[in-house]
Amino acid sequence: MQFQNSREFARELDRKDKLANYRNEFIFPKVNGKDVIYFVGNSLGLQPKRTQQYVDEVMKDWAELGVEGHFYAEKPWWDYHERFSEKLSRIVGAEPSEVTVMNTLTVNLHLLMVSFYRPTNKRYKIICEEKAFPSDQYMIASQVRFHGYDPSDAIVEISKREGEQNFRTEDILEKIKEVGEECALVLIGGVNYYTGQVFDMEKITQAGHEVGAFVGWDLAHAAGNIELKLSEWNVDFAAWCSYKYMNSGPGNASGCFINKKYHNKKDIPRFEGWWGHNKEKRFLMEPEFQPEPTANAWQVSNAPVLALAPYLASLEMFDEVGMPALIEKRNKIVAYLEFILHEIDKEVESTFEIITPARQEERATQLSVFLHGEGRELFKYLMDSGVITDWREPNVIRLAPAPFYCSFEDMYEFGQILKKGILGK
Ligand SMILES: Cc1ncc(COP(=O)(O)O)c(C=O)c1O
Repeated sequence: MQFQNSREFARELDRKDKLANYRNEFIFPKVNGKDVIYFVGNSLGLQPKRTQQYVDEVMKDWAELGVEGHFYAEKPWWDYHERFSEKLSRIVGAEPSEVTVMNTLTVNLHLLMVSFYRPTNKRYKIICEEKAFPSDQYMIASQVRFHGYDPSDAIVEISKREGEQNFRTEDILEKIKEVGEECALVLIGGVNYYTGQVFDMEKITQAGHEVGAFVGWDLAHAAGNIELKLSEWNVDFAAWCSYKYMNSGPGNASGCFINKKYHNKKDIPRFEGWWGHNKEKRFLMEPEFQPEPTANAWQVSNAPVLALAPYLASLEMFDEVGMPALIEKRNKIVAYLEFILHEIDKEVESTFEIITPARQEERATQLSVFLHGEGRELFKYLMDSGVITDWREPNVIRLAPAPFYCSFEDMYEFGQILKKGILGK
């Protein structure tokens, strides 16, 4: 499609956008009395208006029923988390039995590593990407040390080539082959948090399996953002947070995928608790643990229902719209944002560079922009002008126009504000 850098053209795209009405389903913060242009759905998604009602419902049940809410609430609490499996399975491409919600992301990755990182003297290395999200780096290093290994030996980072901004799939596959029988686990972020690069999860998972390793994915930036086929790709495990593209609120619960081939397997160890116990017998308080025959066996504590309520509200919206429609709009709005950036770049004489891959298959909602001449001042100018973006050292702003609530006119408007900011207002 031939884009134009004009308000009229952007409005025409909005008129044709089948998801345009969903913008009204969200609450926008305001700067100078105006709704912001919100580019940080990759960090914390906006609050859906219907979320309040889901939270109120739990508060009301709690007030009126007390502990009886576990069984007699509108949505009983004792199996509240089970409402998520089917809806989430559609988002991550899994069977409902393979998906559950519990805890938070880093906690879940730790718990999943209890099952899937069991090093031996011969096979103890973990392959991850260089400069992974810091929490992943800390998590992996602490797991390695916990098992008595030295992170500098046991952690193998995949590097980018000199002068390149993104990882090459062939380099990742090569590294997996090279580490070979020493590789216990491949654990990478499905979408790189810094550049927005989407990894070829199918090929990488296959390569990991070929050398006999487990393969897990941190899907923080992938869930609700890209098409996932975790079952079909034969992924061993994955976890994601829900507060980014899934709009469930700050610090909220994490989703987990555990391939069904590991359910009911005695040789897969796990840290256990009563919410993973056979649900029909949970309240018999028997001494011996009987696991649920699904990913729910990995549940530890009783579900934090007040936290899960906003996540459920959000999932119902995903169910109404479906990932294919979100992805279709995502591709168009990101392409339009890219066009606007290039147009502005011409007018201001190349002061920035998009470091996210240009190929649609290798990127999703996020464009990361490296500012060459401009710096934090421009970032501050954008924020003061109602463009909410984020800053990542040394000189990158990340722009993620979430298809649920960003408009094409936002992209145009952002371009105008950016130009003003660079040219000195
Ligand atoms: C890629 C990635 N991994 C892990 C985390 C940590 O998430 P949490 O604090 O929910 O454990 C984040 C948070 O933004 C993230 O982006």
